Amino acid sequence: MSEIKKVIVIGATGEIGRSIIAALLSHGFTVTILTRSASSTSVFPPATLAQLKIIAAEYTPETFRSAFTGQDAIVSAISIGGISAQIQMIDAAADVGVQRFMLSEFGNAPEDVQGRLDVPSLKAAREMKVKVLNHAKMRVDESKGKFEWSAVAVGSIIDWAIIKFPGAMGFDIPNRTARLYDDGTEPFTGTRIADIGLAVAGSLANPSKTANRFLRLRSVQTTQLELLHAFNDATQVKWANEFVSSNDVLKNSEEAMRLGEAGKAVQGFVAVQTFQKGAHRSVVATKEEADNGIVGLEEVDAVEIVRGVLKALGESEI
Ligand SMILES: NC(=O)c1ccc[n+]([C@@H]2O[C@H](COP(=O)([O-])OP(=O)(O)OC[C@H]3O[C@@H](n4cnc5c(N)ncnc54)[C@H](OP(=O)(O)O)[C@@H]3O)[C@@H](O)[C@H]2O)c1
Repeated sequence: MSEIKKVIVIGATGEIGRSIIAALLSHGFTVTILTRSASSTSVFPPATLAQLKIIAAEYTPETFRSAFTGQDAIVSAISIGGISAQIQMIDAAADVGVQRFMLSEFGNAPEDVQGRLDVPSLKAAREMKVKVLNHAKMRVDESKGKFEWSAVAVGSIIDWAIIKFPGAMGFDIPNRTARLYDDGTEPFTGTRIADIGLAVAGSLANPSKTANRFLRLRSVQTTQLELLHAFNDATQVKWANEFVSSNDVLKNSEEAMRLGEAGKAVQGFVAVQTFQKGAHRSVVATKEEADNGIVGLEEVDAVEIVRGVLKALGESEI
């Protein structure tokens, strides 16, 4: 197993992709990105762009073979809509002698399905990821040790999700209000978006400990109620809050799905999946089981998560 130096990132222009790019560059990897459109690279600051090689091309098997030749590793942070394209990417990578393919997972490991909410919109994405994973395993077996896959299971991308999905996570920061599912005490783990980048870089820096497996990672284990207390303290305001039944949210989400309101439905499903009291679906790993040590990931507490969220929103001076 050789040292990994040259890395190509796919889906680099998404938010997870950008966190990965920042960490790879700060760890000294030589980074190329493959994008469907050069214009999407405008999301990078000029100093970052100056350090990247950019390949903008239509996604075809020929593009993949040409772009991947000479690379040590591929990191895919492709969106759910592009997940199945990874099958062609894996084939091209194995064919041209790339050592490592990191799959676009960044959720839960597929084998951790016990108690998983089995609604069609979440299930379809999971099944596609499992199909891609099985394809990668098949190519690894055929390669007799030359080709490897790896992935990270990170649970909720907690700081990003609090800001981006207030409906699912339950915190309306501008209005200082919270919605707590059941009694708000269901434990869940989350990984900060910047820590996901660090985990990817740490995985590639430790190829022997990370090959052909999921790493289970966590920046924090917390509850909605704990986060609410942290928000009260950090903003020096007692937030208004309501308690809602996760069973009611599930019924409403199923109805929204039936009416074609998929966005609203999925936020409800994610909330129930994460916060339903007693369901035990959302702890990716206990502190003792977690693989944080392999990638050098430190745990923080709910207060630190809330501080980071407020800082990202420009509220750090409170
Ligand atoms: N754990 C969690 O809470 C959580 C939350 C969100 C996402 N995720 C996971 O993180 C991964 C990335 O998701 P994301 O939301 O960060 O993705 P995203 O921002 O929607 O997209 C990432 C990049 O993928 C490329 N892309 C988009 N649609 C594509 C398509 N149909 N075909 C090919 N390429 C396409 C685009 O890059 P170019 O335009 O440059 O080609 C885009 O910038 C997924 O595996 C997702 O399931 C996990």
